[in-house]
Amino acid sequence: MDIPGIVQLIQASAPAEWMRTSLKAMPIVEAIHVLAAATVFGTILIVDLRLLGFPNTKRSFTRISHEMLRVTWTAFFVSVLTGGLMFAANANTYYGNTAFRLKMLALVVAGVNMLIFQLITYRTVGRWDTGVRPPIAGRVAGAVSLTIWVSLICLARWIGFTKGYNFDVPNDVDLNFQFPTQ
Ligand code: HEM
Repeated sequence: MDIPGIVQLIQASAPAEWMRTSLKAMPIVEAIHVLAAATVFGTILIVDLRLLGFPNTKRSFTRISHEMLRVTWTAFFVSVLTGGLMFAANANTYYGNTAFRLKMLALVVAGVNMLIFQLITYRTVGRWDTGVRPPIAGRVAGAVSLTIWVSLICLARWIGFTKGYNFDVPNDVDLNFQFPTQ
């Protein structure tokens, strides 16, 4: 089966149907997605800044990265799960959206950058773990990672503004949910 066929199947799946028909599913899932994304970015920011030598090199790099990356991976798992649910709800539209495609590409590039760092630069960490500025390859990995993650978040926000607007209130929306009466 080709990719558009798979996308079609995803959109017709039961979780996708649930995301579309429940009034509260999308806002709740998106809120969890944003919290998970903030945790992914926040923890990666701490590790990347340490690679760049900020705020200092007094604390062990391996200790900071071990402590942070455990949280990063958990939050990443949550963001993939919630992102997948949001994608499923409107898979055809997201699949054709350039910002969405670039966001997925940014995820792959972030992964490749991390892998190169782990397989090459991290092997020498014993020499620069504490009290020494990380080598140029480490600083480049940190700067590249920060650039990719900031771009990814901008692209993610962009999706919402490029997938079409509908300012009409649908007939089946309960406005009392938004404006409670006494
Ligand atoms: C496979 C993984 C992921 C998928 C499939 C995915 C999918 C989505 C989808 C469908 C949206 C809704 C866009 C819209 O209609 O407005 C979204 C929004 C967003 N995503 Fe993801 N996402 C994933 C991972 C991530 C990660 C890892 C991050 C950041 C660390 C992230 C950050 C965001 C942000 C900041 C938004 C915008 C929320 C808003 O509009 O307020 N996503 N994502």
